Amino acid sequence: MTDSAPGPAPRIAVVGSLNMDLVLQVARAPEAGETVLADGLHLVPGGKGGNQAVACARQGASVHLFGRLGDDGYGRTLRAALKADGIDHTGVQTDLGTTTGVAAITVEATGQNRIVVVPGANGRFVLDASALDGALHGAAGLVLQFEIPLPEVLAAAERAHAADCPVVLNPSPIQPLPETLWPLLHTLVVNEVEAAALAGVAVDTPQDAAAAAQALRGRGPAQVVVTLGAAGAVAADADGCRHHPGMSVRAVDTTAAGDTFLGALAVALARGESLDAGVRHGIRAAALCVTQHGAQPSIPTRAAVAQSPQPPDWIAL
Ligand code: RIB
Repeated sequence: MTDSAPGPAPRIAVVGSLNMDLVLQVARAPEAGETVLADGLHLVPGGKGGNQAVACARQGASVHLFGRLGDDGYGRTLRAALKADGIDHTGVQTDLGTTTGVAAITVEATGQNRIVVVPGANGRFVLDASALDGALHGAAGLVLQFEIPLPEVLAAAERAHAADCPVVLNPSPIQPLPETLWPLLHTLVVNEVEAAALAGVAVDTPQDAAAAAQALRGRGPAQVVVTLGAAGAVAADADGCRHHPGMSVRAVDTTAAGDTFLGALAVALARGESLDAGVRHGIRAAALCVTQHGAQPSIPTRAAVAQSPQPPDWIAL
């Protein structure tokens, strides 16, 4: 990527979830049947759709988000946060019949998290196909995840495919993909657990990730990225597989690291950069994200990423 000459802002549409994150900072997460005391409770804007939209916006994209909030205080706070990031939220519906999505998150001293999501309004999201068609016109990418109903994800991917707009999917929380979704995907981004679940193989090493990525490419996506946490990521396309090593940082909270990676990658691809440039950019952005607390507050800007150290060179697999 070129840090100093970003060019015109690419347009990206995001369809996905919005949650208020209730973050409990704990020394360690409780075992089954155990009670532990938290150091505090923080309310933080989150949700995979919202986080990925914010990540794209902070990397310089013009973002149009489609989602659903409840008619409550959390919903109003989340909408205000989107507005503050310059995101077009006219596609974010307000549901008068239910509450805004909530995620209960424990974050341990190591930065490791555990997340339980109550979908609320996200579970009642219904795609406005003509509004999405408008957003897809001239867009360089559509970003999707799995925290809204699967039929709506599939419908959005179908509209993007028909509009010749590349679809970037992060199938999290993981569930089997409908057979008809695979051929609509341009880029699939999964972590090691999701890669293992989809490919049906163990993913413990970069070599395992490469094998899983190639198997998944065989189902439709032109390119597959398997993120490996602190160990970086594996990128797979028609040219083969490369391991991009991770960066050494002191993690305080890994929440939204995957969303930050995806947003940075999606914007790089939307700017016409290579898959490897996009993965490097994603690794740099995610490395900054884990050094800060919370979901959306920890997502870095393009300027912050440009000032951060470069990751190590990739290794062909
Ligand atoms: O990916 C992190 C996000 O997962 C959190 O913000 C939480 O809301 C859940 O959706």
